[in-house]
Amino acid sequence: MEKKIASSRVLVSLYSRIYHEVVHNEIKLAAITASDRVLNIGCGGIPFTALLIAKFTGARVWAVDNDQNAVNVARKCIAAQNMDNLISVLNYDGRDPFPYDFDVALVALQAEPKQEILDSLIAKGGNEARLVFRSPRSEVAHQYDRLPSRPLFNRRIDQKQATFDCSVLYANL
Ligand SMILES: C[S@@+](CC[C@H](N)C(=O)[O-])C[C@H]1O[C@@H](n2cnc3c(N)ncnc32)[C@H](O)[C@@H]1O
Repeated sequence: MEKKIASSRVLVSLYSRIYHEVVHNEIKLAAITASDRVLNIGCGGIPFTALLIAKFTGARVWAVDNDQNAVNVARKCIAAQNMDNLISVLNYDGRDPFPYDFDVALVALQAEPKQEILDSLIAKGGNEARLVFRSPRSEVAHQYDRLPSRPLFNRRIDQKQATFDCSVLYANL
């Protein structure tokens, strides 16, 4: 099912509408522009977040996932969308130090363990990196790894999704 949707330009565009407002909010939160290099951890087989970041801002995006099947499907999806000039899909675990320099990282709600991912991003990205995480709604919080407890995030923006109610920004760390 996911494979079929991923290779359809029209279906991906339709489904991605659910994420338009979310991603616009995160672009505002982290002030993402075309000159930023963006890392999206936990892109999944249909990498809506990576696609919309690249489409809305023109930024270069590394979409990574630690599941090889998700990576294979995501690569087909990006190619079907003719976005492979801006988006590269890599099999990578967000806990490991990322080999390339990035300005912004966006972490999927389902990515885990979040504290280890944040620590790794801070170690690699240094003081300048802007790091965005999605915070689960309290009703479904038991289904997801909780937000890192340290350091404290700087800013947040409300989100109207069934599974998460805000995105938070860790910056100037
Ligand atoms: C279901 S996807 C959701 C992404 C959504 N399609 C988007 O565009 O934001 C979440 C993905 O996170 C991946 N994931 C979970 N923990 C991870 C980690 N530590 N590093 C990389 N990927 C991870 C899972 O394999 C899964 O494919």
